[in-house]
Amino acid sequence: MFKFVLIGFLFTFCALSGIAQNKTINPGAVWPDDRGQHIQAHGGGIIKIKDTYYWYGEERAQGLDPHYRYVSCYSSRDLTNWKFRGDVVKMSDPENLGEGWILERPKVYYNKLTKKYVMYFHLDTRNYQYARVGIAVSDKPDGNYTFVKSFRPLDHQSRDIGQFIDDDGSAYLIFEDRALGFHIVKLADDYMSVAKEMSLVNMPLEGGAVVHYKGLYYAIGSALTGWAPNPNKYATATSLAGPWSEFKDIAPPETKTYHSQSTMMLKVVGTKDTTVIFMADQWKPNAQWDSRYLWMPLEIGEGKLWLNEPKPWKINVKTGEHKIAEKL
Ligand code: DGJ
Repeated sequence: MFKFVLIGFLFTFCALSGIAQNKTINPGAVWPDDRGQHIQAHGGGIIKIKDTYYWYGEERAQGLDPHYRYVSCYSSRDLTNWKFRGDVVKMSDPENLGEGWILERPKVYYNKLTKKYVMYFHLDTRNYQYARVGIAVSDKPDGNYTFVKSFRPLDHQSRDIGQFIDDDGSAYLIFEDRALGFHIVKLADDYMSVAKEMSLVNMPLEGGAVVHYKGLYYAIGSALTGWAPNPNKYATATSLAGPWSEFKDIAPPETKTYHSQSTMMLKVVGTKDTTVIFMADQWKPNAQWDSRYLWMPLEIGEGKLWLNEPKPWKINVKTGEHKIAEKL
């Protein structure tokens, strides 16, 4: 009896408070968090700790204090419903970078040796000439993160960064270097610096992301067109050290990746299947708080990778299966 009363109460509470469960992932739509507010995790990245996914990204809500840069953190067990865990970074200009200084594309790694959560981000001046990575650390996934230092990885310019954790747990940073292409580098054991270069791919790509799927590495990225979308491309290699194949379109080029830019590929390995999610941003440079997310399961395998036309879809993180809406 008590159970029924409780369920009834919860139902009424949710209905009255307007808290609704997201049932599908709706690419390009407003994505409400547990407070009913559009998720603010742009240029983001995701890690999984036990059964919980943590999504970090640029917090670009309206009304933030312009002296600070903010990184938000959300958590979820189903990749569909996200709880706002707070702004885990609220940082003032750490290195006298001046007005309009930039903190973009935060990515968090959990280091088992030091038991620290290590955040990398793109740190820059307004004109993007500083071109460094910054590091901030925390004892907990949901912060707060304390700024430690900035540097140029292996002395190279670094703008957009991406994150890749291989199946053996090794952690890699992907970074765009206008002069040379994009680098994939292995992090040092404590993740506080870069240990060595795996690949320098001689291709001007940013928004870099890598996934390891059935014995092949797939790397994707976008052309250098600022906030404007372009046809994102992919290449494959049997080793992170390359050689990498030629780059091909991931979607019909005229759609400009369905008006989006890559930020990560997330592999969801379940009991029955594996889904690789293409995570991308649909930027609105004049209304960044309203920038949207395009997440879609990729068609991937045997050296091919393809992004289908975005549609609402569901993922079951336990089985690893997904369903596109028209097949629900
Ligand atoms: C493209 C990058 O991918 C974004 O993160 C941002 O740096 C814009 N350029 C700025 O124009």
